[in-house]
Amino acid sequence: MKILVTGGLGFIGSHTVVELQHEGFEVVVVDNLSNSSIEVLDGIEGITGKRPTFEEFDLRDKSKVQAFFQKHDDIAGAIHFAASKAVGESVQEPLLYYENNLGVLVYILQELKKKGGASFIFSSSCTVYGQADELPITEAAPVKPAESPYGNTKQVGEEIIRDTCRVNPDIKAIALRYFNPIGAHPSVKLGELPIGVPQNLVPFITQTAIGLRKELSVFGDDYPTPDGTCIRDYIYVVDLAKAHVAALKRLLEDKNESNYEVFNLGTGKGSSVLEVIQSFERVSGEKLNYKIVDRREGDVIQAYADTTKANEVLGWTAEATLDEAMKSAWEWEKKVRS
Ligand code: NAD
Ligand code: WQD
Repeated sequence: MKILVTGGLGFIGSHTVVELQHEGFEVVVVDNLSNSSIEVLDGIEGITGKRPTFEEFDLRDKSKVQAFFQKHDDIAGAIHFAASKAVGESVQEPLLYYENNLGVLVYILQELKKKGGASFIFSSSCTVYGQADELPITEAAPVKPAESPYGNTKQVGEEIIRDTCRVNPDIKAIALRYFNPIGAHPSVKLGELPIGVPQNLVPFITQTAIGLRKELSVFGDDYPTPDGTCIRDYIYVVDLAKAHVAALKRLLEDKNESNYEVFNLGTGKGSSVLEVIQSFERVSGEKLNYKIVDRREGDVIQAYADTTKANEVLGWTAEATLDEAMKSAWEWEKKVRS
């Protein structure tokens, strides 16, 4: 079966392409390389021995999206990773985010509708919950007003899919709300390649340890948490990739109870910033240079998943420990900088 993976040379997409190929799917990747590089194709092939079909174009070009689906009229499903994802940038460039994260989504759904249906998986985010009232966070938790245009594109994206599925029963969709993906493939052939100064904690830790950054700034230690730093659910990217295969199979095998479902993807365990630093120091043997600074605006205090639905309905459970995920991130950083 042929599966379209948009943004398939990106961090999560590339790891998902590997797992799809392991499961025997034929993969077609579309990516404009705006936040990835063509060498990622070599990494995928180096792991699976199979080079996915790759088409480089910008999905914001509606005519190219239409031409793609005319050419590949045997697409059974699509996993839509392609988006812009920098929260801070989205505040400065909202129209870029609404065009790229919502305009493209509409173009793809229009093609699936024209095709008479398909399976569709959407990259959403736990950011839709904001600061949840109850922890761990279930899929029934209310979606809170977005704190950034980026977060709003995930909320509105889910609504676009829900409304489309309501009147197009042959489009079967799942929105996956990722918590905090981290780490790299155990082969050290794939990993996270943040361009410029990393916005996220784990790549900043590994770049500090390798000497690329002077020191890590810990954004506040005066939160109402055990050690005062924020708590997140850090999920190993390979476990996250495997969840996409489980979700896709659910749709392709018509096991879905409705044609629009939502799942939280996390470990169910919260870890504080200091605990992540301690994990890194444990697995790397490195002493991390960091300092406590003021809080970062917009940070929620705690977010970690109730994973019951994904565990029981998808039959998927995250397996890697925080230490294993941090070790993989460090091995990747050392490889990239070698
Ligand atoms: P990424 O930036 O590594 O991957 C996205 C890929 O899409 C990149 O390869 C980029 O070149 C491509 N792309 C972007 N716009 C495109 C366009 N117009 N046409 C063609 N290709 C385009 O990001 P990621 O971390 O792998 O995230 C994948 C998805 O998961 C995104 O939708 C993101 O919002 C979502 N998500 C990510 C996280 C996270 O922490 N990484 C958390 C929650 C949700
Ligand atoms: C994690 C914790 C920071 C960097 C973001 C997006 C979310 C999703 C995942 C796309 C927080 C602290 C961080 C640093 C720090 N992305 N931190 N120093 O903020 O949970 O989620 O990435 O979908 O939408 O909001 O992840 O890695 O930025 O931060 O102290 O240099 O680490 O304050 O507590 P976050 P993060």
